Amino acid sequence: MRRILLKGGRVIDPATRTDDHVDVLLDGGRVAEWGDDLEGGEGTRTIDVTGAIVAPGLVDMHVHLREPGREDEETIESGSVAAAHGGITAVAAMPNTTPAIDTASWVQFVRSKRTPIAVYPIAAITLAREGKTLTEMAELSDAGAVAFSDDGSPVVNPSVMRRALEYSSMVGRPIISHCEDLELSGRGVMNEGLASTTAGLRPIPAAAEEVAVARDIILARTTGAKLHVAHVSTRGSVELVRRAKEDGLAVTCETCPHYFALTDDDVRSYDTSLRVNPPIRSAADVAAIRIGLADGTIDAIASDHAPHSLEEKQVEFDAAPPGMIGMETLLPLTLTYLVQSGTIALERAIELLSTDPASILGIPHGNLEVGSRADVTVFDPDWAWEVEESWFRSKSKNSPFIGRTLTGRVILTISEGEIVFEEDGAATDDDGEAAEKREHLARELSLHS
Ligand code: DOR
Repeated sequence: MRRILLKGGRVIDPATRTDDHVDVLLDGGRVAEWGDDLEGGEGTRTIDVTGAIVAPGLVDMHVHLREPGREDEETIESGSVAAAHGGITAVAAMPNTTPAIDTASWVQFVRSKRTPIAVYPIAAITLAREGKTLTEMAELSDAGAVAFSDDGSPVVNPSVMRRALEYSSMVGRPIISHCEDLELSGRGVMNEGLASTTAGLRPIPAAAEEVAVARDIILARTTGAKLHVAHVSTRGSVELVRRAKEDGLAVTCETCPHYFALTDDDVRSYDTSLRVNPPIRSAADVAAIRIGLADGTIDAIASDHAPHSLEEKQVEFDAAPPGMIGMETLLPLTLTYLVQSGTIALERAIELLSTDPASILGIPHGNLEVGSRADVTVFDPDWAWEVEESWFRSKSKNSPFIGRTLTGRVILTISEGEIVFEEDGAATDDDGEAAEKREHLARELSLHS
């Protein structure tokens, strides 16, 4: 394994409260040294990262990799390549595959794949995700499951959820809850409001999410278990989690870029990439999500990367399956809609995308301390570029952001000391002119787009 020296970058590492211009040396898959004017020595690849941010590798705690079952949409391998392209060095993969990841051997199957980045399996809460019989949580945890979730569907029966929280706390792993009251969401396909009326699409009220969040917080209180609320999208959910935290409960939550970058007004375009579950909400919900991200109520930003085939998405809005791809645009959307807009600082963005999700899952990622795993993301926070369909490495292309101009682009991803993604011509070998070269490259790319 080669030694890599990153020179001239601005290191932001929330775990050590660092924001400093410092060189970082990686060796043997670990962070070896930080310092001013470091020399790598023979055999070292020295990379000029002047003007760029050097951050701990991003951790996406909510992705759908579709294997086993829908390898036409994504595989563990193709999803990992897409993750690396997005600056992500660890993902937690949801178990709503076919069949579901509900036995130790399926957990081992996910872990057995050779991938450029770390893939952690999340196991199902109930067998076949049917909401009836609990899985063998101790066995699944021993096999390497980092959390439990029936994501894609809620656990409808509160008694089953209560037991799930009890058992998961015995193994010390969080339950990640897909909070949805199916009676309230019904056959809805978009957020309930003026936009759904004008669009003529069946509505899903905010209460469909909030009723379920409230129930699970109550159950977390009675069991003392770790509850993580997935894809929070409404103002009321943010408020419920805020109160749970004030009460000292072990409740955490995540949101996704589409819940702070888009509103239900956008859905009036009928672009089926915008059909997601929970649905994209109102401007008032978006404002509350942004406040929750800034004040610490929301702990993580995850992509909910949900690849779907072209055939399935090229239908009327109602008939399309919910989900959009997201790993590759996770960082640029966060930078564009939260950092550029002044809602949060860069350091907080990195905490939300790396440090905090790693700590919720209890996985050894999310910091750059000397001795830790050499997972690094280098990005240019000012690089403006237009998203093109051909740019994605995911097998699926269902992104509503194609055609948008975003600010911020990953130029280098390093996983356990290996370069797993490098933007052609942007991560230059050391000559002190990296920032100028990137500007030139950015201009060329925009001319060709
Ligand atoms: O939009 C979504 N897509 N929400 C989910 O909960 C599941 C996901 C999927 O698996 O496609």
